[in-house]
Amino acid sequence: MSNEYISRARALMAQMTLEEKVAQMMQIPYAMVGREEALRWAKLGAGSFLHVLGDDAREIQQAACSTRLGIPVIFGIDAVRGHALNDHATVFPTQLACACSWDRETAREMGRITAREVATDGLHWTFSPLLCLSRDPRWGRVNETFGEDPYLTGELAAAIIEGYQGDSLDDPESIIACAKHYFAYGEAVGARDACDSEITYRKAREVFLPPFKKAVDAGCASFMTAYGSIDGTPLTIDRKALHDILRGEMGFDGFVVTDWMNATSLVTQQFVAADPVEAARLAAEAGNDMIMSSPEFYESALRSIREGRLSESVIDEAVLHILTVKMRMELFAHPEKLGRPGCIGCAEHHEAALRAAQKSITLLRNDGVLPIADGVKTIAVIGGNADDIRAQYGDWTYFSHPLPNPEHEPIRPYTTIREGMEALAAARGIACVYSRGCSPIPTDADDLDAAVEAAKGADLIVYVVGDEVPQVGEGKDRADLALSGRQSELFARLRALGIPMTTVLCASKPLAMPEVEAASNAVVVAFNGGAHGGEAVAQALFGEINPQGRLPISFPHHSGQVPVYYNALPGWHKQVDKQKYCDLPETPLFAFGEGMGYAPFAYSDLSFDTDTLTARVTVKNTGSVEGVETVQVYFRDLVSSVMTPVKQLIAYKQVELAPGKAKTVEITLDRMDFSLVNRREERVVEPGEFLLMVGHSSRNEDLLTVKFALA
Ligand code: BGC
Repeated sequence: MSNEYISRARALMAQMTLEEKVAQMMQIPYAMVGREEALRWAKLGAGSFLHVLGDDAREIQQAACSTRLGIPVIFGIDAVRGHALNDHATVFPTQLACACSWDRETAREMGRITAREVATDGLHWTFSPLLCLSRDPRWGRVNETFGEDPYLTGELAAAIIEGYQGDSLDDPESIIACAKHYFAYGEAVGARDACDSEITYRKAREVFLPPFKKAVDAGCASFMTAYGSIDGTPLTIDRKALHDILRGEMGFDGFVVTDWMNATSLVTQQFVAADPVEAARLAAEAGNDMIMSSPEFYESALRSIREGRLSESVIDEAVLHILTVKMRMELFAHPEKLGRPGCIGCAEHHEAALRAAQKSITLLRNDGVLPIADGVKTIAVIGGNADDIRAQYGDWTYFSHPLPNPEHEPIRPYTTIREGMEALAAARGIACVYSRGCSPIPTDADDLDAAVEAAKGADLIVYVVGDEVPQVGEGKDRADLALSGRQSELFARLRALGIPMTTVLCASKPLAMPEVEAASNAVVVAFNGGAHGGEAVAQALFGEINPQGRLPISFPHHSGQVPVYYNALPGWHKQVDKQKYCDLPETPLFAFGEGMGYAPFAYSDLSFDTDTLTARVTVKNTGSVEGVETVQVYFRDLVSSVMTPVKQLIAYKQVELAPGKAKTVEITLDRMDFSLVNRREERVVEPGEFLLMVGHSSRNEDLLTVKFALA
């Protein structure tokens, strides 16, 4: 970053009173405080507001720019899957669905378009991407993550950040990205949102910090602190995390914002501060620059300084971080972002949302029932989630935030699965009947008999299962991952008809559905596909697109089996590849990296050149349609000073192959890809023997292996 911005920020700060400086650290929640109070804060010099749109935002900005120093505010919003809190914006797939694409370009495009729409609304900053790992699918926020793997998460994070921020922060179509929640928030014990993560710093460095490092390297201008704690220390007061590692080791040069009321919760939830004055000191000293939604911080920090408990230099450091980013944005010249007038929800953006949904469709089982064959005359589409745009969206849209608004009328264009199926069936002269049957959350309208009746006589049943918004998000962790309500019962009754059946998962997360895996002729995972998720599912089922998604997360057989993430440490008291539980397999229902299309791929001739660290493998499309294969590279350190995972993803490459064509795929690795974090918390490569595994998924049977040594 150029020193010029820092000098300009310093010069401005030199003119600020202590009160103005502390106000600059404040981020005010518009929806909670209301207009009058928001304007009062703007006049005090608050640095930022969140969740405010349109004219309300403009009024606040005018108030801020009319203050003594006229420092513009930055407006933050949770535009986490498109600018979806604006009801006319383009709703993209969730991060989890996007991660099924394993496609950096899809993530980048999603970021770019979101930025353009947010900027066109005059806003500057999205609280995205979320880089916590979903190793326990019971957690309520799995949908917001890129899945369970640090490497894949880091790759997609860097891409989406590049999309949000563009070439420079002062670009009229760029917004600030925010890497959150720093860190290991998804690892809370029992998947209980915001509880303690029982991990060590060695483990943090091995698993949870690498995606955040990639965010820093991608130039991410802001970070958000996590709600939770690591081994009993709330992240909000963890100077080792926020200062020593983030700034000192990773080289972060943006600003850090707390999560919602993190300063308040030090007193009210985590009990590490006796009062708000103490909490303000602890939060500021740890390295939080901006304080989200803890209004008492203002008076408390001032009091703490006046009483000599908190040094003003701590405040100066925070304000310098914030102002430097404001300088980089050229906010003083352009307090309001311009974006591209007319672009919100435009056709071009909707096409990109469809592309993203298409790439996210993950086909997991198929006995040949898909793509839908010519002989099919009638299709029965069953399930509430087949025709419920709220469930298809999931959370963080105008239906759910900033306050739940389930009565809001959905805004077109969008396509549900039912609509997508009906349109493509009609174009082929196929009859398509729909019956709701039941939804994930039981209602009086559930009618299983009607659904079974509707399905009789069909040549194919497409049964859509999943979850709904009240089962997703903060404070909505699930103890039970089985299909909720009467979905399983309806599955059994439909199955009993003996009609070929494709089951589609429209959900926020992996669900434990062994019955579906065992008895469906095909299983498709769509997660929350956004505005065009329904169209993408129908296109995949009819073979208009060849599904190319790969799971970014493992599915358990049963809730009691979690975690089942693939990159576990080797266990003891079991034989390799034999089951650990006496009543369930240890292996997942669906594995990380798994997914198939309509063309199978064959792997051969794996080699690894230890001089150039280049892996070579031949991949052949042995099917009859063109397809995209994601070549996955894993490794294992065979003997090491600390135990290391049975396999870890270190690279992947996507290749498009015509039917019958083969290609030698080359992937060059870096020596540090084979590193571990030792007991002294150092990332090192320990000389010795390693196993390289290359293939179609994380399952052993899908991988070719080669042993090699590194000196
Ligand atoms: C969430 C954050 C979000 C913030 C602002 C918090 O409750 O944890 O992810 O960005 O609210 O809406």
